[in-house]
Amino acid sequence: MKTTADFMKRKQTNEPITMVTAYDAPSAKLAESAGLDAILVGDSLGMVVLGYTSTIPVTVDDMVLHTKAVRRGAPNTFVVADLPHLSYHGSFDATLSNVRRLVQEAGADAVKLEGGATVCSEIKALTEAGVPVMGHIGLTPQSVAVMGGYKVQGKDRESARKLIEEAKAVEKAGAFSLVIECVPAELGKLISEQVTIPVIGIGAGVDTDGQVLVYHDLIGYGDVHVPKFVKAYTNVSEQIQQALESYHDEVKRRQFPTEAHSFTVKEDVLQGLYG
Ligand code: KIV
Ligand code: NA
Repeated sequence: MKTTADFMKRKQTNEPITMVTAYDAPSAKLAESAGLDAILVGDSLGMVVLGYTSTIPVTVDDMVLHTKAVRRGAPNTFVVADLPHLSYHGSFDATLSNVRRLVQEAGADAVKLEGGATVCSEIKALTEAGVPVMGHIGLTPQSVAVMGGYKVQGKDRESARKLIEEAKAVEKAGAFSLVIECVPAELGKLISEQVTIPVIGIGAGVDTDGQVLVYHDLIGYGDVHVPKFVKAYTNVSEQIQQALESYHDEVKRRQFPTEAHSFTVKEDVLQGLYG
């Protein structure tokens, strides 16, 4: 997929959109060669790569650095970059200068921001300025302190209705797509049916217009807590740990490097060098 029109087309033809996060060039390259429809440079970066306990400390500089790396690794994939915490809540000028860095400097095709009605004016203004915006509602990790923890959203009728309204508001503001995180599967389906833009779910059931997962969760890399909605398709942590242990062990036993990994010179070069 190359454009926001391709996202729309997928919804119209009922073909699920596949999205995965990535934070560096080699992982982005693998995502591109695996044929993923889109890559999200998520601010989950803070937790799975930078070692923070939430996404709150992630800065625009962090996002620019990692978006650049992803762009280099996946030059032909649609790349969405997260606007980090508090980078779109001040003046529109400030928001615009952050967005400019992600798009012009780092090469993102679109930006994503969290929230419903409160961020609709930003979504509208950015879209009018020519920057495609992906919304993000439901569980919004940048507001975890206000939400009181990482919990399933929209479990009662009142909050479910509010989420449907938020999805419609984000659509109306001009977002080209919408992430919905950690809601009951029935609500994921309902919301996907009630808006015309593609809804990309994470922990939102099988009936959304697409799915997104965090790269490290998907491949089983790292020790960050993995939520119920994640499927780990492999466990690379085990493989990496084994490789590191083998290396450590072989060096201690002088089994590595062998001749195959060493350089040599002709004997006469060494003449006169022996002390
Ligand atoms: O930062 C992230 O990885 C995200 C996805 C979980 C949607 O926002
Ligand atoms: Na995010």
